[in-house]
Amino acid sequence: MSSGEVVVLRGGTLVDASGRRRADVVVSGGVVAAVGTDLDPPSGALQLDASGAVVAPGLVDIHTHLREPGMEEAETVESGARAAALGGYTAVVAMPNTDPPVDSAAVASRVLGLGRNACVEVAVAGAITVGREGRRLAPLAEMAALGVALFTDDGAGVQDARLMRRALEYASALGVTLAEHCEDASLAAGGQMHEGAWSSRLGIPGQPAEAEEVMVMRDIALCRLTGAPVHFLHLSTRGSLALVRAAKAGGLPVTAEAAPHHFSLTDALVASFDPVFKVNPPLRGPDDVAAVRAALSDGTLDAIATDHAPHPPEAKELPFDQAPPGMLGLETALALALTEAALPLESVLALMSWQPARIAGLRSTQGGPVEVGRPANLCVVDPSTRWVVDPARSASRSRNNPYAGRELTGAVRHTVAAGVAVVVDGEGRR
Ligand code: DOR
Repeated sequence: MSSGEVVVLRGGTLVDASGRRRADVVVSGGVVAAVGTDLDPPSGALQLDASGAVVAPGLVDIHTHLREPGMEEAETVESGARAAALGGYTAVVAMPNTDPPVDSAAVASRVLGLGRNACVEVAVAGAITVGREGRRLAPLAEMAALGVALFTDDGAGVQDARLMRRALEYASALGVTLAEHCEDASLAAGGQMHEGAWSSRLGIPGQPAEAEEVMVMRDIALCRLTGAPVHFLHLSTRGSLALVRAAKAGGLPVTAEAAPHHFSLTDALVASFDPVFKVNPPLRGPDDVAAVRAALSDGTLDAIATDHAPHPPEAKELPFDQAPPGMLGLETALALALTEAALPLESVLALMSWQPARIAGLRSTQGGPVEVGRPANLCVVDPSTRWVVDPARSASRSRNNPYAGRELTGAVRHTVAAGVAVVVDGEGRR
């Protein structure tokens, strides 16, 4: 990616982990070249208006399905990265449930190679087990040697507690983090939605909240046993969040994320039988939604992560029980957080930029602070602009967007990734 561009972000309010101040930012050669007021912009610079807007470290999504290799009809590294940039992201972590899965250094380097041509930074999560089958450990050291810092069998949880213990011990020795998709396969088996009043009424088999919670409980126990950090992916129930809250209070090295759909949609939407509302973990009831919101504001949750899961129309047009789970998220996550989570902007940015950057091991390039010499990964956000979600306008190759027609507040004006203005005035530049 070219880093030769000179960009001036003028008239905005800078917000990073150190606070809020009025400042212009000059970007040159891929880094922040100047921060201050009354700056003399170099001639020929691309001048971007940031007045009335917030200039912040770019967002970091630690849970993105880019579908390459193997499912390019749904998404590619290139198309997913463009969707990410439109959502204000300057880095994404690509999940390993591709075809073939990212369970070897060869596949990890292939995705990392594709990422080098993408418009935002693409990090890769490796699988914990070979083929994500939960039977044998994948070669974590080989992948870690390539810079892979996060490992998960996402899409499935590691069912075997002994294997998970060994994986945690190994990960801890390597200095990498394991991220668990918490789903007990036996309890969840056959469940197409959340088990509750709606699943009974609709006659759709459900998976109970406890299918998530028993694995959260087990992994907290394994974290205590091994001392290895554990990151919990897309938590969705009050019980899971209470477990994480207690584990943190007890000093265990656990971190956790929630996806926007788990604080903005409920299982009542499944009454439409529209597979766009099918996702895993499933949409829950209002009490769980309230618990996710509370956990975002009290520090139990460290990150908002999209679980951007593109699926082609022919897959999502199948009957509800046959359609794959998953929904798009990159282009709507920030606005959903600003509209629905009732959090101050600073907290939203902490949950979507510097905290996930730390979990993913991306602090050297992502998450700020916005200081001279730091890599220029920035987003410019209009916190009060209203817009209506139109799935047809997405940069994603897929259209499984559950927010069609919804009015949201908060829009991405510009995104600067590795010093290049990749989104200007809400439009992608490539
Ligand atoms: O809904 C989901 N879709 N949940 C997952 O864990 C995997 C994802 C996918 O890859 O489609």
